[in-house]
Amino acid sequence: MSQKLAGKRLAVLGTGKLGGILLRAYLKQGLFDAARVTATVKHAEKAAALAKELGVAVATENRKAVHGADIVLLGVKPQVVGEVLKEIAPELTEKTLVISVAASVPTTYIEQHIGDKVPVIRAMPNTPCAVGCGMTGICRGSHAAAQHLEIARTMFDAVGRTVVVDEKNMDAVTGLSASGPAFAYIILESLAEAGVKVGLARDVSTLLAAQTMKGAASVVLETGDHPSSRNEHEKGIHDCEVADCVWSLLVRCRWGRCCRLH
Ligand SMILES: NC(=O)c1ccc[n+]([C@@H]2O[C@H](COP(=O)([O-])OP(=O)(O)OC[C@H]3O[C@@H](n4cnc5c(N)ncnc54)[C@H](OP(=O)(O)O)[C@@H]3O)[C@@H](O)[C@H]2O)c1
Repeated sequence: MSQKLAGKRLAVLGTGKLGGILLRAYLKQGLFDAARVTATVKHAEKAAALAKELGVAVATENRKAVHGADIVLLGVKPQVVGEVLKEIAPELTEKTLVISVAASVPTTYIEQHIGDKVPVIRAMPNTPCAVGCGMTGICRGSHAAAQHLEIARTMFDAVGRTVVVDEKNMDAVTGLSASGPAFAYIILESLAEAGVKVGLARDVSTLLAAQTMKGAASVVLETGDHPSSRNEHEKGIHDCEVADCVWSLLVRCRWGRCCRLH
């Protein structure tokens, strides 16, 4: 267990898709001790199923779950954040660290609901955290200090990589890396479908496409090169039947769908 988190009590409020991904990873890695973790959801039957699966205390009462917690990870939908904060505010002190992953909810909003001096960190992870390949942007509220940022970094580094940004850039992080997997899947699907169109079995084509995207991303991460400069190396192979297929699927069909989303 990381020294920074040893012995800390964690409460995860809203253990849905993202909260569940994070909590599963923390328990699997032993980042937090299961006996010191509490979690909540909205529905009692989901609480019972999660408690059985994860081996931690899961309930529907947020205030009770937060009692005595050192770190509160807020994983509810943005529209529920206000009511949950109102519920838990009496339990929070300047010793409790509140980490919110709610999209578009500023730290000032959270601070206004929980009173003076409670440190707040805002984080924006993405779903590849489920396989240890996440990307998370974090920023701190006005009462959070360097040690709070370090705790948050430790929690999100455990499921991928973390970058600290100014809060004014958090919506950009949301648009790029939190929504980014959806765009990457469109490109991946186009590559894989192009392979199928020119005769590859779908599983082979999907493997070729996925590993290629992973490889290209790894090259950019490891070399630090700009993607366009790496593209220079690949020029010769653009003119083939499958490349034409990729362009037509990507540009005509998928890109159109993507643009219509906005
Ligand atoms: N999904 C992503 O890719 C992603 C990425 C970055 C940030 N986020 C942020 O993460 C947050 C959660 O998103 P999600 O996709 O994980 O949503 P989700 O799967 O719908 O999870 C929300 C969870 O909150 C629970 N909940 C609802 N009301 C509650 C209450 N009053 N008290 C306690 N728990 C309550 C729900 O319980 P039930 O299961 O019983 O309904 C559910 O488990 C959002 O704020 C979102 O902006 C998501």
